[in-house]
Amino acid sequence: MELVFDTYRKQVNESIFLIGGNAMDLPFKDCSFEYTVVKNLLHHLVGRTRRESKAFGKRAVEELMRVTKTGGYIIILDQYNRRRFFSAIIFYLTLFCSIFSISFESFGWGKNVIVSFLTPVETRDFLTGTGNIDIVMNVENRLELSRRWRYTLLMSNIGRLVVIGKVKKCE
Ligand SMILES: C[S@@+](CC[C@H](N)C(=O)[O-])C[C@H]1O[C@@H](n2cnc3c(N)ncnc32)[C@H](O)[C@@H]1O
Repeated sequence: MELVFDTYRKQVNESIFLIGGNAMDLPFKDCSFEYTVVKNLLHHLVGRTRRESKAFGKRAVEELMRVTKTGGYIIILDQYNRRRFFSAIIFYLTLFCSIFSISFESFGWGKNVIVSFLTPVETRDFLTGTGNIDIVMNVENRLELSRRWRYTLLMSNIGRLVVIGKVKKCE
């Protein structure tokens, strides 16, 4: 499922059935799927503040819980930043750059990309917060960055995580 449906429709593999829609308001009935996967999305769900961005991530995970059957699995793959302070700086910098159409190509930082990284704990808490999910897998891989990024400190402790939660009961 994709928010910017028209852009991705042209790229998608013929065997994939792509649906347009918002991850925070999934166009599916309750308890529809045995497996739901969200990959590289949560840090792109951004609001006007960090708090609002985090609320959007929580909302997206709640939607996954709503549409996943009892005994089904929710699989979250995302990038994390362990340093919340630096994530906040990155968020407001990317927001500022987006508003004023500034890009830093040498950092691979496009002018229309705003990111709000979460910590692994924050991501897992979205799943465990309701008490209705058992975490069955949790893997974190720290990423080694190029020197130019390391010197900024902003991304000095980032990585990728995979969290799989099993739904105890879909209501
Ligand atoms: C970094 S890409 C990841 C794409 C794909 N999941 C992957 O891993 O290759 C993030 C995608 O999320 C989409 N997106 C952003 N906000 C969304 C939302 N609220 N609902 C659904 N898709 C959204 C963006 O348009 C973009 O295509």
